[in-house]
Amino acid sequence: MWGGRFAAGPSDVMRAINASIPFDKALWRQDIDGSLAHVAMLGAQGIIPAADAEAITQGLKQIAAEYAANGVAEDWALEDIHMHVEARLSELIGPAAGRLHTARSRNDQVATDFRLWVRDACDAVDAALKALQTALVDRAEQNADAIMPGFTHLQIAQPVTLGHHLLAYYEMFARDRDRFASARKRMNQCPLGSAALAGTGFPIDRDATAAALGFERPTANSLDAVSDRDFALDYLNAAAQCALHLSRLAEEFIIWASQPYGFVKLPDSFSTGSSIMPQKRNPDAAELVRGHAGRIIGCQTALMITMKGLPLAYSKDMQDDKPPVFECEGLLMLSLAAMTGMVAETGFDTSAMRKATERGFATATDLADWLVRQAGIPFREAHHITGAVVKLAEGRGVALDALTLDELQAIDPRISQAVYPALSVDASVASRNSYGGTAPDQVRHQAARARAALAGE
Ligand code: ARG
Repeated sequence: MWGGRFAAGPSDVMRAINASIPFDKALWRQDIDGSLAHVAMLGAQGIIPAADAEAITQGLKQIAAEYAANGVAEDWALEDIHMHVEARLSELIGPAAGRLHTARSRNDQVATDFRLWVRDACDAVDAALKALQTALVDRAEQNADAIMPGFTHLQIAQPVTLGHHLLAYYEMFARDRDRFASARKRMNQCPLGSAALAGTGFPIDRDATAAALGFERPTANSLDAVSDRDFALDYLNAAAQCALHLSRLAEEFIIWASQPYGFVKLPDSFSTGSSIMPQKRNPDAAELVRGHAGRIIGCQTALMITMKGLPLAYSKDMQDDKPPVFECEGLLMLSLAAMTGMVAETGFDTSAMRKATERGFATATDLADWLVRQAGIPFREAHHITGAVVKLAEGRGVALDALTLDELQAIDPRISQAVYPALSVDASVASRNSYGGTAPDQVRHQAARARAALAGE
């Protein structure tokens, strides 16, 4: 297809390094869709004879049916998916096939195909994220008033509700969906018609091809259009951020599943055993979600580095754009499915969570707040008094509310019997009723808002 000016063919090594068909065959459907739009436009504009446009259209449809049924048979001499389709087309319809590539280059062709693919990937990841959010809201509603320790520095800090903790992830995944949606919006411009780099002298109709492929409009600058891989990076950036969130959630499940915590029992469907230690129930799925996040960030980094030194316009380095995006998509979709299953099916041991909260002096802040509110003590002094109370309870190995009133008053006489209700973990969470706070009522409101947002899409 480009051999006219060469005396000899490429070496085997050249063929091997040049061939992208092993991975870009994943673009076959997008490639054929792009060609169908292009040939319809060529025919309508009178750039090629109507009969040839019709023969090409029928041939492309047949190739799509063949690929759908049998996959793409790789031939490295044909380099990439674009040449595979064209070679098959000329087998099917003869010399008219040669008119398809009028007013087009593989540079705008691949940019168009890949955008179409990444746009679909944005839609798929959005649906998967929505399913995960739905699972989080379901479990949050069921556990709106289940008490668990809230941590800072992985030290018990204040009591929170499990529903509140789960809805924190709902928010992260909502932002991830926003990022994919804005990536999708930005990429929704059609490079087709930019040709090799400079545009074309043929009287093409770029609005028509853009519309036929569902793009908002044609790209505005042909040099940019064939050189730009921002759209793939936008996807990878959003994916890396999303994987990071998945990894944090996975990490929490791993910690919670460990025996000293015992907050969750991971479902059989997402656990594995050990071949030597019969008692083991390992959180492999969560660990792999955490591991995959590293690989996804690697994909993002790979394409950043591929692109960062490239002059305009197209360079063959850019053929390397696809493997990291494809790899990332596979890893991300699997991670999302695994996390969704784990969230939906994990057994939460809410009594273990409550016990851990009660052991951790989690209501110390409530005692300090009580001293401020009921006894008019400045917060810094209240903090100090409470520290002494915690020290005493810790020394005695009991919870704050197991100390007697005499013991408390020996530390500060302004403490009264009325303090005890404030020391319970239930009172603590119920009191944190500020907008977005951990109180069960707030969590129910948050869950209802989330549910309505998911239903309204
Ligand atoms: N297989 C190539 C790629 O994926 C297609 C574009 C080739 N263009 C060229 N001028 N060699 O990037």
